[in-house]
Amino acid sequence: MKLPFSYILNLLLTLLTTNPHFPNPNPCTGDCWTHEPGLISRPSDNQYFRFATGSGIHIHSAPSLSGPWKSVGEALSNGSVIDHQGRRNLWAPDVHYDTSTNMYHMYYTVSTIGSRDSVIGLASSPDMAPESWTDHGAVFRSTNNDRYNAVDSNWVRIHGKPYLNFGSSWDGLFQVPLSLSLMKDLKEGTGGLATHAVQDALSHLASNATGHHRIEAPFLFQHRRWYYLLLSSGRADASEKNLPAQGEENRIMVCRSKNGRGEFVDKDGKSCRESGGTTLLASHDAIFGPGGQGVIEDKEYGLVLYYHYADRSLGLSTEQYRFGWNVLRWEDDWPVV
Ligand SMILES: *[C@@H]1O[C@H](CO)[C@@H](O)[C@H](O)[C@H]1NC(C)=O
Ligand SMILES: *[C@@H]1O[C@H](CO)[C@@H](O)[C@H](O)[C@H]1NC(C)=O
Repeated sequence: MKLPFSYILNLLLTLLTTNPHFPNPNPCTGDCWTHEPGLISRPSDNQYFRFATGSGIHIHSAPSLSGPWKSVGEALSNGSVIDHQGRRNLWAPDVHYDTSTNMYHMYYTVSTIGSRDSVIGLASSPDMAPESWTDHGAVFRSTNNDRYNAVDSNWVRIHGKPYLNFGSSWDGLFQVPLSLSLMKDLKEGTGGLATHAVQDALSHLASNATGHHRIEAPFLFQHRRWYYLLLSSGRADASEKNLPAQGEENRIMVCRSKNGRGEFVDKDGKSCRESGGTTLLASHDAIFGPGGQGVIEDKEYGLVLYYHYADRSLGLSTEQYRFGWNVLRWEDDWPVV
């Protein structure tokens, strides 16, 4: 077969201008839809649970990261007890196992698009089954006067103490310490965020002063001597009719810090509070707009990056998003996929 010169030229140009170093996501079978995934494994039966945003919190489970994934139902299907706009359309589930209560804890967001009038709530469950979640209500709140937005929470432990990372747009990503008596306070119904979230110790993790200030979905994890902050940068609202300029769609970026509480920098040493950030995964081949990411420590693979993406051949709407995962490798103490 003889290929036309223009075809070969195009192929070469594509190879030169795209990011040939990004691998495709690893295989996924079964129901691979996801949006803003939260991923955790249940040691009692080695099942993986994947939480997602889509007019409520959806739960999928599978015996391995590659599937077969099946839908098992919704958490808090009647909405949140928090009396706030958006209480029937919960977002951004972040689930971890809490060793002090022996329960799974899920932080979720109650908000509406484009508003900073937002609340982060907490629910708990012994086993993550859809009907098993007890809602404890509000943990942290923001108003339209704040420079931050209380959405997209990510619970993390730093030097033994619990913190909540959160944020999107405006001044970017923040972190607030949680009181150690969180669950006790919630059970006793003392309410009020001041008892749980130590607001005057709020720290500013990252922001993007250029362009549209669009960074969101912080995810913090530790590896050896460093804390790594993953974030989604760019536009998350792409559609065929409203396509971002090339490179402005979502991509996953990384910053790192020694103390986990601030002083995050990118690979060039630029502060991530001053628009710094190193790309970890961006659009490539048919993969469009990876974002909503997290990292799971897997028994078989070690640290694994997971995220949602759109497959250009399927469509760009959130209902068509797919679950992606890649094993992290390390180069000079920076993660790469
Ligand atoms: C949701 O609300 C309906 C109607 O009030 C009720 O019958 C059902 O038990 C509730 N489900 C949950 C999970 O609370
Ligand atoms: C900040 O925004 C600019 C313009 O959209 C973009 O080029 C840059 O990669 C962004 N950086 C981060 C860390 O989000």
